[in-house]
Amino acid sequence: MCGIVGYIGTREAYPIIIEGLKRLEYRGYDSAGIALFDGTDLKVSKTKGKVSDLEARADKEITKHGNIGIGHTRWATHGVPNDVNSHPHLSNSGDLVIIHNGIIENYESLKQELMTRGFTFQSDTDTEVLINLIEDVKIKENVKLGKAVQIALNQVIGAYAIAVFDKTKPEEIVIARLGSPLAVGVGEDEFFIASDASPFLEYTKNAIYLEDEEMAIIRFHKAIKVRKIKDDTIVPAYVQKLQMNLEQIEKGGYDHFMLKEIHEQPKAITDTYRGRLLRNEAIIKMAGVEDNMKRFLNANRIIIVACGTSWHAGLVAEYIFEDLARIPVEVEYASEFRYRNPVITENDIVIAISQSGETADTLAAIKLAKSKGAFVFGVCNVVGSSIARETDAGAYTHAGPEIGVASTKAFTTQITVLTLMALRLARAKGTINSTDFRQHLLELELIPQKVEEALKSDAHIKMIADIYKDSRNCLYLGRGFNFPVALEGALKLKEISYIHAEGYPAAEMKHGPIALIDENMPIIVIATKKGHYEKVVSNIQEIKSRKGKIIGIVTAGDTQVRDLADHVIEVPDTLESLSPLLTTIPLQLLSYHIAVLLDKNVDQPRNLAKSVTVE
Ligand code: G6P
Repeated sequence: MCGIVGYIGTREAYPIIIEGLKRLEYRGYDSAGIALFDGTDLKVSKTKGKVSDLEARADKEITKHGNIGIGHTRWATHGVPNDVNSHPHLSNSGDLVIIHNGIIENYESLKQELMTRGFTFQSDTDTEVLINLIEDVKIKENVKLGKAVQIALNQVIGAYAIAVFDKTKPEEIVIARLGSPLAVGVGEDEFFIASDASPFLEYTKNAIYLEDEEMAIIRFHKAIKVRKIKDDTIVPAYVQKLQMNLEQIEKGGYDHFMLKEIHEQPKAITDTYRGRLLRNEAIIKMAGVEDNMKRFLNANRIIIVACGTSWHAGLVAEYIFEDLARIPVEVEYASEFRYRNPVITENDIVIAISQSGETADTLAAIKLAKSKGAFVFGVCNVVGSSIARETDAGAYTHAGPEIGVASTKAFTTQITVLTLMALRLARAKGTINSTDFRQHLLELELIPQKVEEALKSDAHIKMIADIYKDSRNCLYLGRGFNFPVALEGALKLKEISYIHAEGYPAAEMKHGPIALIDENMPIIVIATKKGHYEKVVSNIQEIKSRKGKIIGIVTAGDTQVRDLADHVIEVPDTLESLSPLLTTIPLQLLSYHIAVLLDKNVDQPRNLAKSVTVE
């Protein structure tokens, strides 16, 4: 994971790099560092901790002046988070400096070899090995930095996005990518380098996204040349116009990005179905599906691959696709799928779901499925991301940038896209009649306003959060379409409040979790009117007779659960298949408020990162 930023041009690099790193802290935040060339020498400052800690340290340590520099915010892989292991890393001569996002898998053998040639190492990182390998090649082969980077990378196994410069030739930065994202902002007489475009949005809307196995030498007064790492072939550098704007990546008056993103859901869901759901004409338009309709209609089955919250969206989709379109669906953790020799045929369709579009395991699962001849469809949020580019076709969620590490609007918009797909396919297959189809369109169009309604319970949910904030454990139960929502609710609580929580299908409670129930155990039960209501009510009775504390997520106006539960949180009524879009909202708010009341870092929970670009 990790975030990297670089600048070369005529401005002061320090503020650009520091602000850029803050925007990339979602990628990791256990240490940070910066290297600047101040006109005469290289200045490096790095520290364990966040970018704000780096600022405090740099204030004391370096002059913060210079027009070329690189910076890094880290999520530790090799070596604990401490000052020494923080990036940037220097080569033994002190001339070369590098930042790296990714993992060099064969670093140990490379290190041994370099040590036999007299190289020494300060840190435990794979990155320090790489920069010394580059230096070794540069000296041995007597080549320029770009060539040395290229030769070294051809000896490396692993994944990387790197930026390197040489203090003895401080007019160029060499960058390269394999498996980790890397964007270049192209300004007038200046270039920005970053893991995504957010660090340079206010300076330029022109971006080049490096593809895997590509590298470039960036000289600020010259045009950028992109080439293949393997064989030097020049590839055309395609400059994209960015659509994002600055407000989208700022907090806009909310205390946390997560809260902002929870409240953005009505708009995000609307943006997701805009132009696709045409209710008056009673049609759904999705180019990625239309263009491949034959494949979808002939598919044996759909295999969904994803990780984390996206995997939960996949589970909801399983219910929706099977119910509406009658296509068998399997949902797989990408990390398991990629390593277990799965049976995949040319008649299978793989749907890869990913907010970031960069999750390493999901990307690897896609490559595996493609190698076996399957057609791969991507559901991504980040436009132009690796997964969006790697898949055969796809549909974006259009949720806008999601910055809070705990995913919220990405989840509901993923469900929205997948529902649209299921409905479109159901119509084409004739597994839904026109009355039901129209009703689904109507109800889907009403979801944003119903989410708005559900958000009004905020103060009530905060009150409930206050009562249960000190719980050590928590159980989430749901059935049918709402079973995956129970999993997602539990994940949200775990991620940001560090309270142990488990999601379970309500009826399975009897086969284990019921043993945990006592008068201290809060149990959140999704008990909306449509969908096994009576069965869930029986499950609630079972909890009550064991004195568990019941928080019911119910349909507005419900009285039966209200009489049994300790608390209820109402959501508006809707179709059963669409209910996850509403029942999710109170669970997001509950975990948010508990985490805030416990004084946890909501947007940057410990040990996690938003974009998991290592396996
Ligand atoms: C990380 C994030 C989660 C996310 C998961 C999958 O664990 O913290 O919020 O659900 O990765 O990410 P993706 O970008 O592929 O949806």
